[in-house]
Parts: sequence; structure tokens; C-alpha cells
Amino acid sequence: IDRLAVCQVLSAEEFTYLILNYDQEVSDYLFEKARQVRTRYYNHDVYIRGLIEFTNYCRNDCYYCGIRSGNKKAIRYRLSKDEILGCCETGYLLGFRTFVLQGGEDGYYTDERMADIIRSIRDKYPDCAITLSVGEKSYETYKLFFDAGADRYLLRHETANEEHYARLHPAKLSGAARKNCLYDLKKIGYQVGSGFMVGSPCQTAGNLAEDLLFLKELQPQMVGIGPFISHHDTPFAKEKSGTLELTLFMLGLLRLMLPKALLPSTTALGTIHPKGRELGILAGANVVMPNLSPQGVRDKYLLYDNKICTGDEAAECRQCMERRMRSIGYEVVVSRGDNVDFR
Ligand code: SAM
Ligand code: FES
Repeated sequence: IDRLAVCQVLSAEEFTYLILNYDQEVSDYLFEKARQVRTRYYNHDVYIRGLIEFTNYCRNDCYYCGIRSGNKKAIRYRLSKDEILGCCETGYLLGFRTFVLQGGEDGYYTDERMADIIRSIRDKYPDCAITLSVGEKSYETYKLFFDAGADRYLLRHETANEEHYARLHPAKLSGAARKNCLYDLKKIGYQVGSGFMVGSPCQTAGNLAEDLLFLKELQPQMVGIGPFISHHDTPFAKEKSGTLELTLFMLGLLRLMLPKALLPSTTALGTIHPKGRELGILAGANVVMPNLSPQGVRDKYLLYDNKICTGDEAAECRQCMERRMRSIGYEVVVSRGDNVDFR
């Protein structure tokens, strides 16, 4: 761990060894170092992102995901442009300066429709960042969205190992295509976020080491990781969820490997443990993503079982987050919260 802090990388064998052999003492040592590194670039600030889950229609059929096209029991919804702008307005008043538009790969939102929504948000909120998370698109489409005013893009690589990728996705999806998208996004100039689930079915310690090394090569500005949590209406209904301990350990390793990264302490982490998001921050994370979606649709964007905050108002989530962060000595700030290299 000392060497990782200095060199900011280890070999696949060394990462695998750490992942297989860490204990509480090693974790605590790692988290202490991770907090020091995080403080160097981001003090005790915690950036908030207003998450707008604007559609749960999806053409894909990822085996782990509750809104996969094969889940005929999911109740589908889409938000109109006005509804999305309404979420932004609520969010702006609550101090959000980043809006994250996330959804399934939904053909209803054509490139023109999406670009129009992005332009409207950009015009109305020139001081805010617009983050997209709408899956795999062509270079031209990503460029169109960027020119319309989007700044950042979240696209988890899910797993860097092609065989493991094939265990989690139907044959028409490939890890290589997903990685290509990430390189396209970087080339265009987005702040790019990638990431993976911890404890997804069939995942090995070696796979996690590959994930770390892929991220080292990609050099994303953000990395989203969270535990895999099963959803009762998916092929993985009976699979075990990822653990709190391993997710936190991976967050700590990521902070040492990519010191300037924006690392969210995710809702999934808060779902498997009541203090999961606080513990994520204490392991090196520096971002939280409270929900800005209208209350009426929140329980329909169910990626996994028992997702938290599906009944709360945006304002409640915002205040709750502030209290939680304060309780551990950190402060939610009103800021776009760019990666230090993009300021
Ligand atoms: N469609 C976009 C995409 O493919 O990037 C964004 C939406 S997708 C639902 C966002 C992320 O949710 C995925 O990258 C995946 O890692 C995560 N996710 C999906 N199902 C999950 C589950 N059962 N447990 C934990 N995370 C899950
Ligand atoms: Fe498309 Fe999950 S399968 S968002």
C-alpha cells in the first residue's frame, strides 16, 4: 500500500494479492492514506450531483439490471423535456451545480431530442455541469451532445475482462465496444467516468485487478463503483450481492491509484449498509449523487432490490446528505465540482 501511494500503480499480481488477503487492519491503513491523498486535492469538500433518472426504457438486456428489456414486470416511464427542466430547477434552488441525466438506451430520445434537451439546460443554467449517462453511442452522437453543451459522461466499463463481460451481458454487447466508446468520449473532450460493480457474478480477484489496470490506462476523471445487488426479476435473482468491505477497499485502492479522480460514494453502497455512503467517503470517495427524479417515478428506476431514497423528496435527500457528511467531518459544497485538471 505504501508503494501504491508512491508509484500510483501495482502489478496485476500485487493487486490480486491485496484483494485476496486484506483484513480490517490493512483496510484502515489504506483508508487513512486515501483520506490524506483526497485532502491534498479536494480538502474536506464533498461534491453533490443531482441525478435525474429520465427513462427506464432500455433496448439492452444486461443480466444484472432491473430495467433490462427482458424484465416484462418493470413499469416503464419517460420524463418529458419540461419535467427534466423542472428537476433541474428544483435542483438548482437546492444548490446542485451538476445535473446527471441517466437512463436506459431508449430510442425515443433521438439524437435531436437529446441535443435539444441538453441545449435547453445549457442555456438556462450556464454555471452548471451537464453529465450524461445514456450508454453506448457513435462518436458523432457523443460529439453532437458535447457541442450541445454536455461536459461529462458516465459509462462504466463494467468489467475489463472480455470473458467476464460475456457472463454479464448478451452476446451482442462486447467489452471492446464499450471501451471504444470511453476512448471516443475522452478524445472529444468530455470529463469521463468509468467504473464497475464489485462482487458481480463470476467476478474474481484477478478480474478486479484487471479493472484497476484498465482504469489506470484509461485515466478517467471519474470512477463509479458500487456493490452488485441482485434484482428479483433478473437472471441473477439468486446471486449474492457484493460486500461493503470489498467495495470500500476498492475505493481506497482507486484513490491511491488515481489521486485526482472524482469518486462517488454510491447509492448502492448506501443500500447494503445504513452508513455505506459515509464509509465510502471515509475510504477516499469525494462525491455523492442524491436523486432529483420526481417522486412518482423513483421506485420505477429499480436497478436492484431495496434501493434507498425511493420515497423521499429531493429536498429531503439534499438535507439528509448534508447531515450525513457533516457527521463525519466533511462538507457538501455548492460547486460544479470539476476534476482538478478541468478547472
Ligand atoms: N444505460 C446507461 C449505461 O449503460 O451506462 C446508464 C444506466 S445503467 C442502469 C447504470 C449502471 O447501473 C450500470 O453501469 C451498472 O453498473 C449499474 N447497475 C445496473 N444493475 C445493477 C445492479 N443489479 N447492482 C448494482 N449496480 C447495477
Ligand atoms: Fe439498459 Fe440496464 S440494461 S440500463
